[in-house]
Amino acid sequence: MRKEFLPFARPSIGEEEIAELIDTLKSGWITTGPKVERFTAEFAAYVGGRFAVPVSSATGGLHVALLALGIGPGDEVITTPMTFVATLNTIVHCGAVPVLVDIDRATLNIRAEEIEKKITPRTKAILPVHYVGQPADLDPILEIASRRGVAVLEDAAHAVGSEYRGKRIGCFPTTSVFSFHPNKNMTTGEGGMVVTSDEAVFEKASLLKFHGMDRESWKRFAKAGSPRYDVALPGFKYNMMDIQAALGLHQLRRLEGFLVERERLARRYDEALAGVAGLILPSRVPYPVRHAWHLYTPLVDIDRLTIGRDRFMAELKARNIGTGLHYTAAHEFSYYADRFGWRPEDFPEAHFVSERIVSLPLFPGLTDGDQDDAIEAIRDVLKAFRA
Ligand SMILES: Cc1ncc(COP(=O)(O)O)c(C=O)c1O
Repeated sequence: MRKEFLPFARPSIGEEEIAELIDTLKSGWITTGPKVERFTAEFAAYVGGRFAVPVSSATGGLHVALLALGIGPGDEVITTPMTFVATLNTIVHCGAVPVLVDIDRATLNIRAEEIEKKITPRTKAILPVHYVGQPADLDPILEIASRRGVAVLEDAAHAVGSEYRGKRIGCFPTTSVFSFHPNKNMTTGEGGMVVTSDEAVFEKASLLKFHGMDRESWKRFAKAGSPRYDVALPGFKYNMMDIQAALGLHQLRRLEGFLVERERLARRYDEALAGVAGLILPSRVPYPVRHAWHLYTPLVDIDRLTIGRDRFMAELKARNIGTGLHYTAAHEFSYYADRFGWRPEDFPEAHFVSERIVSLPLFPGLTDGDQDDAIEAIRDVLKAFRA
């Protein structure tokens, strides 16, 4: 058995990130400043987006993006139950109502063909999530949205580097929100980016992310700046710091290598675990994409085992293999169940997945030996608890 605990995720921080961070700390300016400006421009160029707003997290990014799209009390936003709860929480923070469309069990993404049935006169946006880095089917979503006059906000928290039909997520005529949380494909510690094709959304999100102030402090306190500012609307404190951007500048340069390595490791799992009873391996969507492999999430086939998914995870932990749970379907949390009367079986596909999904160790820096340890432990647990 493996001697040291293997986490399911670990950021890959190189010497360049460390040197840049030290440079920032010594520079006399550590909060929002020139490095955030550079990182934002480089990230927008990478994804091919027109406008970008750096934020302290994707959660903050979703919040300001929804508000910038004009979403407010009583409005409806169509989204998926299979997501991190930030997607729904931010809709509720705007006073709006999340309307859920179930997922495809195989791809874990929203069923685009079911969306139109849920559109009402109150619908203001469709909010797909590119689950674990495999893009949702954007073409039909964009078509429905333009025909019905609603916005598309992509939760691209998992999708840094993902491509849909040959184009990077972030370059479509929508607004997208990326996450740089430490478990994601690249990290700034915490952090996020709103990328939009709409100048008005850009301007409003830019104001909202920093108190509604029309000039940020590093511009005000620079030699040529003026200390005065106006507050056009009551905004939030969601700005990204130069400390974060220092990491992001170098993570972005290393991203392609991270993506290639994640894909290689995902294929290794696919090959090693193919046909192993007790596990349903991740499926690919039928349209052309680049999967960013933020996570490798098989389903534990609990109908063929004597244990459930949580026990499966505990058994792996006992063998020093860490796993993650991404995620419990959002409609099953008590707040949402109580407020909207949602029962687990109202979204049967998401419920099925939510009971079975598990994230296996996957990160650049995971060695083949580490992965072999995880594979051996998985086989061992599945064999021990076969029904
Ligand atoms: C689908 C999804 N949306 C939004 C978020 C929020 O990202 P952040 O942690 O950067 O706020 C996450 C985080 O895991 C996520 O998985």
